[in-house]
Amino acid sequence: MDGNGRWAQRRGLPRTDGHAAGEEALMDTIWGALDAGIRWLTVYAFSTENWKRPVDEVRFLMNFNERLLLTRRDELNERNVKLQFIGRRDWRVPKRILRRIDETLELTGDNTAMTVSMAFNYGGRAELVDAVRAIAASGIKPEKIDEKTIRQHLYDPTMPDPELMVRTSGEYRMSNFLMWEMAYSELVFTDVLWPDFRRENLYAAIDEYQRRDRRFGGLSDTDGLG
Ligand code: IPE
Ligand code: MG
Repeated sequence: MDGNGRWAQRRGLPRTDGHAAGEEALMDTIWGALDAGIRWLTVYAFSTENWKRPVDEVRFLMNFNERLLLTRRDELNERNVKLQFIGRRDWRVPKRILRRIDETLELTGDNTAMTVSMAFNYGGRAELVDAVRAIAASGIKPEKIDEKTIRQHLYDPTMPDPELMVRTSGEYRMSNFLMWEMAYSELVFTDVLWPDFRRENLYAAIDEYQRRDRRFGGLSDTDGLG
């Protein structure tokens, strides 16, 4: 969800107004995904690198994400949406927010229409470090470790590999997002700044996705196999 700062800057507003404006984009994207039958949506809300920002902006983002949870979880719950979280829990995140996260997991845990996973205090490399630590601590024999072992020690072992990654604001980077999980994801880039993003932009990205030929290192169905 990138481009909040630039969106605000272009309007002569403080950067934090851009984050605030991103709420409408997020909600419209979630409802649009739900209406389209998407079963899993992961959003990058706060990265392990975002702590480098000025303290005022970090504080704003913490409060903003907490308030977002508090004000939106009931309507998400009413529409049978399950909220999940991926990220480092035991590092820097205020206790108060962990409590909100746990309440939200409890509230929406049995919902089945769609999972919205918030990547919060998330970093792809941190996730792999944490997985390696957990695997080492489990005492498993090195020769028994395979790709499945690593998958099972990521923050959310139930999360399917993403089919599509959409990056906003004209940046062409992965920025440490889902490093393991996105090995074969289709990448779609758009210049739209996050606060301007709406379900139509998601649908346009899905259209582009549907025109891709996914081979996973093999051959396409139409290349003589089918
Ligand atoms: C994304 O918008 C929001 C977060 C990283 C939390 P930015 O704040 O990165 O916006 P730009 O990139 O400065 O425009
Ligand atoms: Mg940015």
